[in-house]
Amino acid sequence: MNTTETTNAVKQQQMPRIGDKAPAFKAVTTQGEINFPEDYKGEWVILFSHPADFTPVCTSEFMTFAHLEEKFNKANCKLVGLSIDGLYSHIAWLRTIKDKIKFNGMENIEVKFPLIEDITMEVANKYGMIQPGEHKTQAVRAVFFIDPNGIVRAIIYYPLSLGRNFDEMYRALIAMQTSDKFNVATPADWEPGKDVIISPAGSCGVAADRMNNTDELHCDDWFFCTKKLDKDLILNEILKP
Ligand code: BEZ
Repeated sequence: MNTTETTNAVKQQQMPRIGDKAPAFKAVTTQGEINFPEDYKGEWVILFSHPADFTPVCTSEFMTFAHLEEKFNKANCKLVGLSIDGLYSHIAWLRTIKDKIKFNGMENIEVKFPLIEDITMEVANKYGMIQPGEHKTQAVRAVFFIDPNGIVRAIIYYPLSLGRNFDEMYRALIAMQTSDKFNVATPADWEPGKDVIISPAGSCGVAADRMNNTDELHCDDWFFCTKKLDKDLILNEILKP
């Protein structure tokens, strides 16, 4: 490997981790220029990459996300897409989707959220969206959940051939917001209305108290305590009217 190849390989391997500040960038998008994450202060953002415009799995994903955009917006979350394609390719692809493509009962779908042009791979490299073992010039299906303070809170990576599950993205978003608002954790397959988890006891005294507090808590053992959290209470707190 020569020096340039080594530098590119190192750049590609960088990726923010959960708890890191989201790497900043300015980019041209299908909705004008954005200054990320500055423009999204106070809101959650899902920043996601796809391999290429005019490909079928990506098309199905964009239609699904566009169809659900309002639902995500109601949960104070904006969507931002990215691929290693130019602006005119993005525009042509989104026009074709609207004019011609039908999928899962959806048609005439207009993608209104920004799609970043990243021909130089600057943003994709900052976010580790190029995984050379999978593809050297196309981004994998990466999803970064970034909170209102610009912190990366969750990351999902899928290979090129596998379309993402948008119900899971929404579930993860609501679960993280619930954890933040109510200081609880959420167990496997949690959805609003199901019991939440109380963080583990940090002392023997708290462990004993937990086992005695049978009104509010249900503890199978000192480390496994759940409690009820009303679905409407969660949704009233989280969702915009
Ligand atoms: C697709 O979106 O259909 C796709 C893109 C790259 C590789 C395989 C499938």
